[in-house]
Amino acid sequence: MADYQGPERVLSGIQPSGGMHLGNYLGAIRKFVDLQDRHDCFYCVVDMHAITVWQAPAKLKAQTRHIAASYLAAGVDPARAVVFHQSGVRAHAELAWIFNCVARLGWLDRMTQFKDKAGKDKERASVGLYTYPVLQAADILVYKATHVPVGEDQKQHLELSRDVAGKFNHDYEVPNFFPLPEPLIKGAGARVMSLRDGTAKMSKSDSSENACIFLNDDADAIARKIKKAKTDPEPLPSEPAGLEGRPEAANLVGIYAALAKKTDAEVLAEYGGQGFGVFKPALADLVVDKIAPIGDELRRLEADEAYLDAVLREGAAKAAAVADPIVADVKEIVGFLV
Ligand code: TYM
Repeated sequence: MADYQGPERVLSGIQPSGGMHLGNYLGAIRKFVDLQDRHDCFYCVVDMHAITVWQAPAKLKAQTRHIAASYLAAGVDPARAVVFHQSGVRAHAELAWIFNCVARLGWLDRMTQFKDKAGKDKERASVGLYTYPVLQAADILVYKATHVPVGEDQKQHLELSRDVAGKFNHDYEVPNFFPLPEPLIKGAGARVMSLRDGTAKMSKSDSSENACIFLNDDADAIARKIKKAKTDPEPLPSEPAGLEGRPEAANLVGIYAALAKKTDAEVLAEYGGQGFGVFKPALADLVVDKIAPIGDELRRLEADEAYLDAVLREGAAKAAAVADPIVADVKEIVGFLV
């Protein structure tokens, strides 16, 4: 970003490929809310990314509204931030094609998320799944976004976005046309792990429904999942170093710290020496206190499809008004007739 002179802008997105969970909330949405007061923010529901793996059409519509409703329920304000669906702004797809011709095969070959998602049978994966990070670069750079709040798992994709921006600027001899976007990852909650396996990321595609707390889980479901969370027999240590080699304990302490806006050390100063019989109910109370009201608001908003669709439509128009002139400049730079 060193010499980029344009305004600071924030962009991020979440896929409508399943229910919104605590990892999405702590890793991403909570940051979205904090940033909207200080920056120009663009928050999209990345439906074009979702179809890189099969999505039943009717379900995709419902999931798109679910993600939009989750943004709003968590406190994103469509009067302050632009909330929209990716497919509603054509500029994303246009820039993605140009970026497909900038990004190199070798860069995409290194993407670990493709390897994880495609599994052993990569010949049967969609081409879109492979080129997914290029569309993500277009999402960001079509607004010349300078900052991208995400969880830790998106670090490699953000590096690719920076590489695409840098190569475009270099190849077309337009220094600083695109900013090199900076990921905003740090902080508690950047990597929330499964409640059933402290070494695996909390994910909507986990096969065990107890592994993941969804934003629309009610208080009973939240308490039950935390009660069943995998732990070890030892009491909690009194300092963070004692969490080493105890991934499940570290994860529960991390969730507590993130929700209470404390450090792990502060949580352990309070609960060190206590067993999970004491810590789990305290954690369940905290999660219910912070998440259940969001779930209530989410359900209320989801019942009002017309409102959500209007928010997304208006957001898409506002987003296009920023993106279209940037794509027009890109076409001129590339040498397309305009
Ligand atoms: P997605 O839909 O998988 O996840 C959305 C956001 O939630 C974060 N996240 C987590 N954070 C902490 N702990 C977890 N267990 C956890 N699981 C998910 C993700 O890091 C992400 O911030 N490729 C992106 C979507 C995307 C995007 C973009 C993001 C498309 N275009 C442009 C930023 C900018 C993705 O699949 O996120």
